[in-house]
Amino acid sequence: MGKVIAVANQKGGVGKTTTSVNLAASLAVAEQSVLVVDLDPQGNATMGLGYDKNAQETTVYPVLMEDLPVAEAIIRPEVGTASQVPDLVPSNANLSGAEVELVDQENRERRLRAALDGIQDRYDYILIDCPPSLNLLTVNALVAASSALIPVQCEYYALEGLSQLMEVIQKVRRRANPQLRIEGLLLTMFDGRNNLANQVSEEVRSHFGRKVYETVIPRNVRLGEAPSYGRPVLYYDALCRGSRSYLDLAKELMDLEVPA
Ligand SMILES: Nc1ncnc2c1ncn2[C@@H]1O[C@H](COP(=O)(O)OP(=O)(O)OP(=O)(O)O)[C@@H](O)[C@H]1O
Ligand SMILES: [Mg+2]
Repeated sequence: MGKVIAVANQKGGVGKTTTSVNLAASLAVAEQSVLVVDLDPQGNATMGLGYDKNAQETTVYPVLMEDLPVAEAIIRPEVGTASQVPDLVPSNANLSGAEVELVDQENRERRLRAALDGIQDRYDYILIDCPPSLNLLTVNALVAASSALIPVQCEYYALEGLSQLMEVIQKVRRRANPQLRIEGLLLTMFDGRNNLANQVSEEVRSHFGRKVYETVIPRNVRLGEAPSYGRPVLYYDALCRGSRSYLDLAKELMDLEVPA
């Protein structure tokens, strides 16, 4: 049974999508079968994996709202590259309608979980890239997930909002998904020359202890450029610090795996 990880933080621009795309690629290179579910109307993960978000026949929207089987919304990379490139359920601006439309739906918090039920055993990892909000889309991701991975940007206000996110995770545990764990907090965009970044990283570690990954994602120009290439950084500069940090994260995540 594949592990479903919601990459979530309601704060914008903290590295959710960069982490979803590059961790997925790193896991795929480690011969894991990986699916990325883009659950953000911005469609950044879709573009980051090299697809035109506005040219997709199906997206995650009809999966959530019209009971389209998720298998029919999965894009597979071209033959030849398949084993080392993640699959994707794409998204685009259509999904912003779902935030509102879900409110009136039956089982509105469990629709993604129900959708993923049938395909979980086909993947080792399913990574859900959440939008920067604690709306019903993010709640759907948390209800569907076995764990939440929380990127935290190493800057002032980093801790702000985390307690609110933890409360939502608690609530989801109580109401719908008792198995939900914190996969880990991931320090992102770390710049060791910056005192503030060091302070923030110490503060996050003293607050969350072993829940914080040892791997730290550095601020790295290549990682910032990657979306413009439409490729995970690993596929065009495998040796840069950004690539290596996400490979380390994939290894840490796989090593921490508790046997079922
Ligand atoms: N480690 C890094 N080094 C340099 N640039 C980075 C790094 N991580 C992310 N970025 C850049 O920072 C911006 C925000 O990152 P990203 O899109 O991953 O955040 P996000 O949390 O998904 O944002 P949103 O909340 O809008 O979905 C992007 O332009 C991305 O390329
Ligand atoms: Mg994003």
